[in-house]
Amino acid sequence: MSSVSISTIKQMKKDSKQITVLTAYDFYTAKILDEVGIDIILVGDSLGMVFQGKKNTLEVTMKDIAYHTKVVSGALKKAFLIADMPFMSSQISVEKTLQNAAKLIQKGGANAVKIEGCSSLDTISKIVSSGIPVMGHLGLTPQSINQIGSYKIQGKTKESYLQIVEDAKKLEEAGVFAIVLEMVPAALAQEITSILNIPVIGCGSGPFCDGQVLVTNDILGLYPSSPKFSKQYVNLTELIRQAGENYIKDVRAGIFPAKE
Ligand code: KIV
Repeated sequence: MSSVSISTIKQMKKDSKQITVLTAYDFYTAKILDEVGIDIILVGDSLGMVFQGKKNTLEVTMKDIAYHTKVVSGALKKAFLIADMPFMSSQISVEKTLQNAAKLIQKGGANAVKIEGCSSLDTISKIVSSGIPVMGHLGLTPQSINQIGSYKIQGKTKESYLQIVEDAKKLEEAGVFAIVLEMVPAALAQEITSILNIPVIGCGSGPFCDGQVLVTNDILGLYPSSPKFSKQYVNLTELIRQAGENYIKDVRAGIFPAKE
């Protein structure tokens, strides 16, 4: 099996083949997802909530993302690896952003970075022209939670709908290779997917995108506050609880370890 590259991802849109994306933060989860054929692994700043137990993503640092990216990159043989640029790592200056992005590629082993929002188009162009692929992220941008107020659908008013369409076009012009559209109405996601030449990856934005991304802890039933749009494929919380209870029972009853 050959490795997934930017051209593979772009070709998938042309071939109308759905692009699959999941998050990972540790070696073995990443290895399993890679082995089953996931196209893209994202070391998302969602790790602040689903891995560190924080109430939002704002405390996630460059050090956190760099660490998890390095761990995950060691596990991948085929999947394309994207590292999220955490809060304030791409907003301070072009130089700082370039340094941060370069660190995730050079030291972390990522193939690309993801930047939320549309406020730093110049910076995005500079990163892209320096040879680092950038994925955009529009709609619900969790790093702006203090402005948005809550994790709710974006682009419902005519004004915000048009704004997201405009921002998507600007990001494509700035050179991003793909865009995540989080929590926008399906019709808006469908329109953007048809206008743009680059792949649009939906996250709670309906079925008409070029691919889908979910947080792995949500699909594994390992996070108690999963969004409604996600899908739980297994309940690991329950399995871990049962395993823990059975182990405690066995040790206390002298069943484990067995004499032999
Ligand atoms: O941080 C993350 O995991 C993300 C995805 C939900 C797109 O940004």
